[in-house]
Amino acid sequence: MCGIIGVTCNPSANAPTRASIIITKALKSLEYRGYDSVGIALIDPSSGKLIVKKSDGMLDKVSKEYGFEGTPGFVGIGHTRWATHGPPTQINAHPHTDCKEEIAIVHNGIVKNFLELKKDLASKGHSFKSETDTEIVAHLLEELSNRNNDFFNALKRAISMVEGSYAIAVITKKEPDKIFFARKESPLIVGLSKNLNLLASDIPAMLDYTSSFIPLSDGEVGWISPSDVHIENLNGEIIDTKKRIVTVDWKSDMVRKSGYPHFMIKEIHEQPQVLKNTYDGLMSDDILDRAADVLASGERIFVTAAGTSYHASLILKLFIERLTGRIVYPFIASEYRVVENLAHKGDVIIAVSQSGETIDTMKGLRAFKARGAIAMSITNVMGSTIGRESDFTIPMRAGPEIGVAATKTFLTQTLVASLLSIKLASKLGKIGMDEEKTMLSELADAGRVAGEAISMTEGVVKSMAERIHAVQNMYFLGRGLGVPLSYEAALKLKEISYIHAEAYPAGESKHGPIALVEQGFPVFFIVTSEMVSELEGNIAEMNARGAMTVAIAPFKLKERLGTKAIIAVPDAGNMLEPYSLTPPFQLLAYYTAVRRGHDPDRPRNLAKTVTVE
Ligand code: AGP
Ligand code: GLU
Repeated sequence: MCGIIGVTCNPSANAPTRASIIITKALKSLEYRGYDSVGIALIDPSSGKLIVKKSDGMLDKVSKEYGFEGTPGFVGIGHTRWATHGPPTQINAHPHTDCKEEIAIVHNGIVKNFLELKKDLASKGHSFKSETDTEIVAHLLEELSNRNNDFFNALKRAISMVEGSYAIAVITKKEPDKIFFARKESPLIVGLSKNLNLLASDIPAMLDYTSSFIPLSDGEVGWISPSDVHIENLNGEIIDTKKRIVTVDWKSDMVRKSGYPHFMIKEIHEQPQVLKNTYDGLMSDDILDRAADVLASGERIFVTAAGTSYHASLILKLFIERLTGRIVYPFIASEYRVVENLAHKGDVIIAVSQSGETIDTMKGLRAFKARGAIAMSITNVMGSTIGRESDFTIPMRAGPEIGVAATKTFLTQTLVASLLSIKLASKLGKIGMDEEKTMLSELADAGRVAGEAISMTEGVVKSMAERIHAVQNMYFLGRGLGVPLSYEAALKLKEISYIHAEAYPAGESKHGPIALVEQGFPVFFIVTSEMVSELEGNIAEMNARGAMTVAIAPFKLKERLGTKAIIAVPDAGNMLEPYSLTPPFQLLAYYTAVRRGHDPDRPRNLAKTVTVE
């Protein structure tokens, strides 16, 4: 994880503090990636020396204390950290420097062989200040550039010695207008602007300055200056950067809170609109038809993802199986080693990832691809690594998601999953053309249903958050489609409110989990319009043990279920039920977290994009 930013400005066209202002602003937007410590380094234009400012704590506090924004310099780098090696302290915060304080580096990833390199460098006289793996690279660069005056060659040599994952940005007194970079398995994107160029872990951090980007690929290494970009690949070939430029239509106001107190609540409320964008985008294109052709001619379908995206993958499995009768094999991305041997030529692997940068998902995809499977992905960030490495990519079009808790991207993934399943059913002759048309047009209402669910439930959910905010444990139970929705509800509540919530298929609750239930234990049922009578039985069992039962359920079932409280959502056909049932549990997690005094956008120990294994 960690967010990195680099800016190099033309001195004749920029004020001397512009770079530090840009870096500080970008760090604010990158903070979702990690926020245990933060730092910047610039080259002082008058003395030519490095200025490094860093400390543990969050950006607002540290930047104020150290005066980040007034720092002079036309070239600089910044970092917001999610520690992997060494606790979050001032010394361990990035940027890290070499012995002579001439080189500063920021890094996202893990240097696996750092102990070995450290030992070797120590024997050559280097002394280390921090406990991080990253600092070793600063000393390695010092060592190699001392031997050979060409800094870029030293960088290439250094990265050939480093094992692990990295996106790194480096500045050096020796070449004061450049930022050197290298990338392997951690995201890094070049941003091209007038009189300045940038480098960052994600696109939103640079949207104020440009809409033209070059997403870097694994093994690429290079440098940016205010007017040039140089990129080489693993084989030392120089890349034609013009051919690699992508233009995005995201706008910088999309990454602002627009009057909402948190990104998460803004993103929950954006769902009606983004679902419409997803639907309209996919319907005006033949991409789903092409994807369905690939699936139809493939032998077996595997689907892999992490966290919320995994829950959307379970919905993809459910809809494909229901509509086509073909089995779909889902697996948690980080467990890919358990199943990779099963893959062979002719299979299709679908990777579902909002960011397109999750390392576990990327590794799962690569492992299957290496065994001959066709790689397909569903992602929100076009140009992301997973997107680029796939043979086929379906965009989610949710717009940038900043809140660490995935909300709008879950429902847009679900919509892609539903539409794709219908297209596949039609290709396989399981449904006729008329049925396909009816089902597709039913899903045009996904956004409307989500909007109605929000307005119908937000008030009730706020009072419910008041009731549950002090509990320590709770369950979410469902059947059929209600199972993946329950998993997602529990994850949402857990990750931002820190209440221990577990989800099970409702019937499974009798096989152990019910032992925890006592007077007042909250049990939420996510009720779809299937298997309702079985669910009624499960509700009765929980009521009999004094549980505080609550149903999130279609309005039509309001009188029937027998729970002690009900959060009624609009009635909708089964394929539309995710859009009516999901907003209330997202809102519940949000309002409970706020009531407990937590920042829902920056949950502890988490980062939006997990780029370490
Ligand atoms: C969701 O709320 C989580 N923060 C997390 O589980 C996330 O869904 C997971 O890390 C996968 O991310 P991706 O979709 O970007 O691959
Ligand atoms: N390994 C580095 C550190 O602990 C970077 C961590 C990361 O990118 O997550 O400082």
